[in-house]
Amino acid sequence: MVSRWTYITLTMLLCVELGESRTFRAAVLEHALRLPNRTLFVRSREQALAYVEPNLAEFERQAAIARTQDVDILVTPEDGIYGTAHGRTTIRPFLETIPDPKHVTWNPCTASADIPNVDVQRRLSCIARNNTLYLVANYGDMQPCSVQNDSHCPSVGHYQYNTDIVFDPNGTLIARYHKTHLYYEYQFDEPSEAENIVFETPFGKFGVFTCYDILFEKPATSLVNDLGVGNIVFPTAWFDALPFFAAVEFHSAFAMGMGVNFLAANIHRHRFHGSGIYTPDGAAVYYYNDTVGSGGGKLLIADIEVLDKPTRRLGNDQSKPDSRMLSVDQFEFKSYAFHDLFNFVSLRDSHADEIKVCHNALCCHAKYTANIHEGDRYALGAFDGLHTYRGHFYHQICTVLKCANSSYSSCGSPTLDARSIFSNITIWGTFSTPYLFPEVLMSDNGSLALAQTQLSFENGTLDTNNPLDLPLLSATVIGRKYSCDNGTAKQHAVL
Ligand SMILES: *[C@@H]1O[C@H](CO)[C@@H](O)[C@H](O)[C@H]1NC(C)=O
Ligand SMILES: *[C@@H]1O[C@H](CO)[C@@H](O)[C@H](O)[C@H]1NC(C)=O
Ligand SMILES: *[C@@H]1O[C@H](CO)[C@@H](O)[C@H](O)[C@H]1NC(C)=O
Ligand SMILES: *[C@@H]1O[C@H](CO)[C@@H](O)[C@H](O)[C@H]1NC(C)=O
Ligand SMILES: *[C@@H]1O[C@H](CO)[C@@H](O)[C@H](O)[C@H]1NC(C)=O
Ligand SMILES: *[C@@H]1O[C@H](CO)[C@@H](O)[C@H](O)[C@H]1NC(C)=O
Ligand SMILES: *[C@@H]1O[C@H](CO)[C@@H](O)[C@H](O)[C@H]1NC(C)=O
Repeated sequence: MVSRWTYITLTMLLCVELGESRTFRAAVLEHALRLPNRTLFVRSREQALAYVEPNLAEFERQAAIARTQDVDILVTPEDGIYGTAHGRTTIRPFLETIPDPKHVTWNPCTASADIPNVDVQRRLSCIARNNTLYLVANYGDMQPCSVQNDSHCPSVGHYQYNTDIVFDPNGTLIARYHKTHLYYEYQFDEPSEAENIVFETPFGKFGVFTCYDILFEKPATSLVNDLGVGNIVFPTAWFDALPFFAAVEFHSAFAMGMGVNFLAANIHRHRFHGSGIYTPDGAAVYYYNDTVGSGGGKLLIADIEVLDKPTRRLGNDQSKPDSRMLSVDQFEFKSYAFHDLFNFVSLRDSHADEIKVCHNALCCHAKYTANIHEGDRYALGAFDGLHTYRGHFYHQICTVLKCANSSYSSCGSPTLDARSIFSNITIWGTFSTPYLFPEVLMSDNGSLALAQTQLSFENGTLDTNNPLDLPLLSATVIGRKYSCDNGTAKQHAVL
C-alpha cells in the first residue's frame, strides 16, 4: 500500500514537474535582404524568380542550421523574400495565388511539379519538409475576385495581399493570413475584414499577424482575448522608431503586456533592425545591431515554455488612488515625443518618492533612485490623445526618458546616449484602458539594450526589481485605447 501511494505521489509530482517545464525550441531569422540594385527591371516571372533566389537560398541555408539544432519552428521576416520597394504593377510578376488551407489540403513540395506559378510556395514547403520544422514566411498573394459583382474588385480583376504563410514539418500549408493594417503599402489591398488566423502544433496554439497590425485591436488582441492564443508568430519589416517603438522595445512590451510568447523576425537593412523571441517574463533572446556594413543578419534560437493560454496580468488597478497631493513646485514643460506633444517634468534629484505629471485625463507617477550623471537630463512625461502622424491611433503614455541633450525641448527626441544608472524606478498612471505595454530600454555603448533584470508589471505598475546594469534610455508604459481610435484604425495610414 505504502509503496503504491508513494509511487502515485511521485508520478504526480513528476507529471507536475514535467508539465511545468515543457518547452519548445523557437527560431527567428533577422534576414539581411539580398536584392539586386533595381526592382524596375523585373517584368517577367523568370526575372522575378531570379530576383528572389538569393533570399530563398539564404532561408534554405539557415533552415538547415536550425535543423541541426532541433528547432521546432522558424519564423522569417515580412518582405524577406522580395524586399519592400514595389508598386502595384511592379510586384505582379512575383505574386502567386495561395490557396486557403481551411478549404484545401496543399503540400506544394509533394504536389505535381507541373502546377504553374507556385515556385516560391514549393520552395518554402520543401524547406519546411526537408528540415522537419514549422516554417513561417511572408509573401504576396494574388486572389481573383471570386465574388460576383464585387464592387470593390480592382480593375485588374484580382486582389493583392501582403500574406503570412505557415507550413508544417511535412510541408503542408496550414495557415494563410492577409495583413490587415497596411503601412504605406500601395502594392497591396487590405482584406475586407480582419482575419483571426491560428494554427495548432504539438507545442501549443499559435496566432499570426504582421508588423503594423500589432498596434490595433483586431486581430492582435482578439487572438489573445477571444481565441486564447498563447503564442504569436510575427514576420515584420519594422523600422527604428525611438523613443517608444523600437522593434525590440515594443515587441517585448507586447509579449509582457498580453502575456504571450512572441516570435518576431525583422528584416535587416538601413533603418530596419531588431528581432527577438519574447516571453511574458521578458526576452529569451533578442538582437539589435545597427552597425553599418554588409551582412548583419542573425539566426536566433531559444527554448521557451509552452503556453497553452495567455498569462496576461489583466488590466489596470483602477482603484489605485491618484489623489496624493504633491507639492506643485515642479516646473512643467511641453516637448514632442514620437510627434506627440507631451507634458513633462524634469527629474531634479537622485531620489524621489513620487513625481507626477498629467496630460488630459492621464496622470503619470514615478518614484526612483538614480545616480544621475551631470549633463544627463531625464524627464517624466505624459500623453493622452490621438496620435496622428503617419497613422492614427489613440494612446496613453507614461514615460521616464533620457532627453537628447540638456535642453528641455530635446526631451522626447530619439537618442541612444545616456550615462545614468537607475537603482530602481517605478512608473504608474491613471490609464483608462486595460491594454498596457511595459518597456525598459537602456543604452549600451551607443546601441540599445533591453533591461535584462526581471521587470515586474502588475496592475499597470512597471517596476524594476533590480538595479539596471546599463544607463537608462526610457522606462515606459504604453496604453492603447482602441475604443478612441476614431474609426481610422482600418484606414490606410496617411501622411
Ligand atoms: C550594384 O551596383 C554597384 C555600384 O553601382 C555595383 O558595384 C554592383 O556590382 C551592383 N550589383 C549588382 C548585383 O548588380
Ligand atoms: C533538401 O535537402 C537536400 C539534402 O540535404 C538538399 O540537397 C536540398 O537542397 C534541400 N532542399 C530544400 C528546398 O531545402
Ligand atoms: C450583378 O449585377 C448585374 C448588373 O448590375 C445584375 O443584373 C445581376 O443580377 C447581378 N448579379 C448578382 C449575382 O448579384
Ligand atoms: C505529417 O504527415 C503524416 C502522414 O500523413 C501525419 O501522420 C503527420 O501528422 C503529419 N505531421 C504533421 C506535423 O502535420
Ligand atoms: C553587426 O553587423 C555587422 C555588419 O552589419 C556585422 O559585421 C557584425 O558581425 C554584427 N554584430 C553581431 C554581434 O552580430
Ligand atoms: C539638443 O537636441 C535637439 C534635438 O535632438 C537638437 O535639435 C538640438 O540642436 C540639440 N542642442 C544642442 C545644444 O546640442
Ligand atoms: C531603490 O534603491 C535604493 C538604492 O539602492 C534603495 O535604498 C531603495 O530602498 C530602493 N527602493 C526600492 C523601492 O526598491
